[in-house]
Amino acid sequence: MSYLIAANWKMNKTVGETLEYLDIFLPSIKDLKSVEIMIAPPFTALSSASIKIDAYKRENEVNIKLGAQNMYYVEKGAFTGEISPIMLNELNVDYVIIGHSERRHIFGERDDLINKKMISAVESGLRPILCIGETIEEREQGKTLSVVERQLRNGLSGIEKDLPFIDIAYEPVWAIGTGVNATPEQAQEVHLFVRSLINELSKGNDSKTRILYGGSVNDKNARDLIKEKNVDGFLVGSASLDPEKFYKIITETLEV
Ligand code: PGA
Repeated sequence: MSYLIAANWKMNKTVGETLEYLDIFLPSIKDLKSVEIMIAPPFTALSSASIKIDAYKRENEVNIKLGAQNMYYVEKGAFTGEISPIMLNELNVDYVIIGHSERRHIFGERDDLINKKMISAVESGLRPILCIGETIEEREQGKTLSVVERQLRNGLSGIEKDLPFIDIAYEPVWAIGTGVNATPEQAQEVHLFVRSLINELSKGNDSKTRILYGGSVNDKNARDLIKEKNVDGFLVGSASLDPEKFYKIITETLEV
């Protein structure tokens, strides 16, 4: 199983800025074949990014995939402002981030909606990255593992057998965009717990499911985090917005 290093750009970068980024980034990752790289730009830039990546791949070998940051679970209809899985399929999108903490906490997404999105993504042939993680209050009350367990069981309800086509991202809410990352020990504790849970849910068929860490990952802490046995990659926010910094994070994971 190769590491997955994924970029979540959130609401950043216009089409022009996305193309400029790819001009720098794509040539830099040409020789990095042992790691899988994913970029999730905003919806508006997906089409241009997809065309650019496809054209580049025709001439060069690069292990990069495109991801979406969210989607709705219905194919089409009266859902103003939403994007459907078939729209993502059309753009050669491979991954979709589901249940990111900003979706949960700013936009009020709950486990049942997240579960519907997970089911729909799997049925549509997209590889979902299910995001889970506790708030600082929950951690201080000793509820970290129970919160993560609830989010995982509910998010995966009915699709446990599809776990080989799903990745998980553990992103403690208190570490996202704060500059305070989980320590490698804190990450490992939760990742180990998540690994045992998905092993149970999938009846042992979880060897293709990666558990990513997310939350203030940068080129300084990436190496220590990836050294942990159950950390299988990263979901990177702010540090992925600069192509050189993101490249540095990727190469840090290669040297372990
Ligand atoms: P961050 O965001 O790297 O800026 O903390 C991570 C994420 O939200 O996925």
